[in-house]
Amino acid sequence: MDIRKVGVIGCGLMGSGIAEQAARSGFTVVVREVNEEVLAAGQKRVLGSMQKGLQRNKLTQTEHDDAIRQLSFTTSVADLAYCDMVIEAATENMAIKKKIFAELDGVVSAETILASNTSSLSIADIASATQRPDKVLGIHFFNPVPVMPLIEYVRGFLTSDETMTAARAFGAALGKKTVESKDRPGFIVNRLLIPYLLDAINVLEQGVASREDIDLGVQLGLNHPMGPLTLADFVGLDTLLFIADAMYEEFKDNRYAAPPLLRRMVIAGYWGRKNGKGFYTYG
Ligand code: CAA
Repeated sequence: MDIRKVGVIGCGLMGSGIAEQAARSGFTVVVREVNEEVLAAGQKRVLGSMQKGLQRNKLTQTEHDDAIRQLSFTTSVADLAYCDMVIEAATENMAIKKKIFAELDGVVSAETILASNTSSLSIADIASATQRPDKVLGIHFFNPVPVMPLIEYVRGFLTSDETMTAARAFGAALGKKTVESKDRPGFIVNRLLIPYLLDAINVLEQGVASREDIDLGVQLGLNHPMGPLTLADFVGLDTLLFIADAMYEEFKDNRYAAPPLLRRMVIAGYWGRKNGKGFYTYG
């Protein structure tokens, strides 16, 4: 099927990046948030990132202006009715995602593909909230979406070949490289990333080294763009905890057990770069 109009549910870190990338690639994009306040914050994030892309010569003024014309913002799910595909990028919580998918299922056409940007939750489980499990898949982006060149596709138990083909064509139109994973928690990238980030927090909590030395050690010793604690802040400590808990729940493997420090930081409102407080403080 031909995808032209894309809905994005959620305009946080990931939703705003997905909306920006899709608009920059010529898709008509409708972004939905739960209320005007978060919608305005999300819109500001999209416009700010496009401005940065302009300043860094990643897009021309014409491309910038064209992309902005492709975007609209709403608080009503009904405005997604005519989308060919909707990508959900809401909180990493199964109950919330199922509610969203059930609602979307009743609003969009029978042909519309419903995708989740989930990092760890089961696509088959999310799809069970709809009457179209063959048209549900995972399309997992990486933060920052306009910069990171990868998309992970996740095939649910009932996802059809036709749905996978249409989604792959969409990813190619965004200019991303793609990999495909079975529907197992963490898919490919987070299956490897999450234990590494949790281990770095354990190393800090056990007093083996300072946060700066842990980060610098990995950055310079392994040539990573960011050390693990900086990356944990970047992903969001609340998101990291959600993913770790989901993976632990499924595998019951201590590699995915959240360190007590992480859980307490999240309870205390240390969510990382997104709210200025994490392993580091951000202006
Ligand atoms: N649009 C287009 N391009 C942009 C841009 C934008 N809005 N913002 C920045 N860029 C470009 C810059 O122009 C620059 O390009 P060049 O290298 O060609 O000059 C490049 O992106 C890097 O930007 P900056 O110079 O501003 O920043 P940096 O060099 O400090 O890099 C970073 C920032 C890209 C985030 C880098 O630190 C990095 O790669 N970090 C690791 C990120 C990562 O691992 N992400 C995955 C997290 S896991 C996840 O997302 C999945 C999950 O489920 C948890």
